[in-house]
Amino acid sequence: MKRYVVANLKSNKTAPELTAWFADFGVPPQADDTEVIIAPSFTLLALLQADRAVGLQMGAQDVSSFPLGAYTGAVAAQQLADFGVRYCIVGHSERRQYFHETDADVAKKITELLSLEITPILCLDEPYIASQAQLLSDEQRAAVIIAYEPKAAIGSGRSISVGHVKEVSAVIKKDFPTAPILYGGSVDETNCEEFLLVTNGVLVATAALDGKEFARLVAKCAAH
Ligand code: PGA
Repeated sequence: MKRYVVANLKSNKTAPELTAWFADFGVPPQADDTEVIIAPSFTLLALLQADRAVGLQMGAQDVSSFPLGAYTGAVAAQQLADFGVRYCIVGHSERRQYFHETDADVAKKITELLSLEITPILCLDEPYIASQAQLLSDEQRAAVIIAYEPKAAIGSGRSISVGHVKEVSAVIKKDFPTAPILYGGSVDETNCEEFLLVTNGVLVATAALDGKEFARLVAKCAAH
């Protein structure tokens, strides 16, 4: 199975800052089985279309739960697809907490994305694994990538134990038997290889903000 290393840049970086980030990051290692996905803010996606982003996949951090139309402020899956976006994070705990997204909203977003052949990276934490899965069809469950992200581990510098990730992955597999499962939550260059022992990849935010640091993390993952 493929391995995924995803950078969630969250609501960080201006265009000049991301340009400098690319210079620091350099060229990703050529490893056929490793997909490196960069998910910046919508306004920065164009930078990923340029030559400097060769070998990197374009990801978004969110999508509208509606199709194209009169939905002020929303970015539709069709618009992401036209741009070359291949992956989209959905249901991140920050979206659930600060934007009050529900399992039902997330399910609608997944429907929109899959209709445009964009792969959803569905973030789950233990309290809503089952409730989220219930709202998805078997086909949808088979088409997503799961990112297990325990809330307390996000941005705290305190990742959880690999053993616990393994246990929760087994729970996730009951509902998503064939989906790749990633781990996210204070992943950095010192611990990424441990998580790869029990997952199909990592979702990284804080340790992706520095291009050089993220390049080292990607190199470790690709060599693992
Ligand atoms: P972190 O965040 O790497 O800063 O812990 C992960 C995430 O929110 O996806």
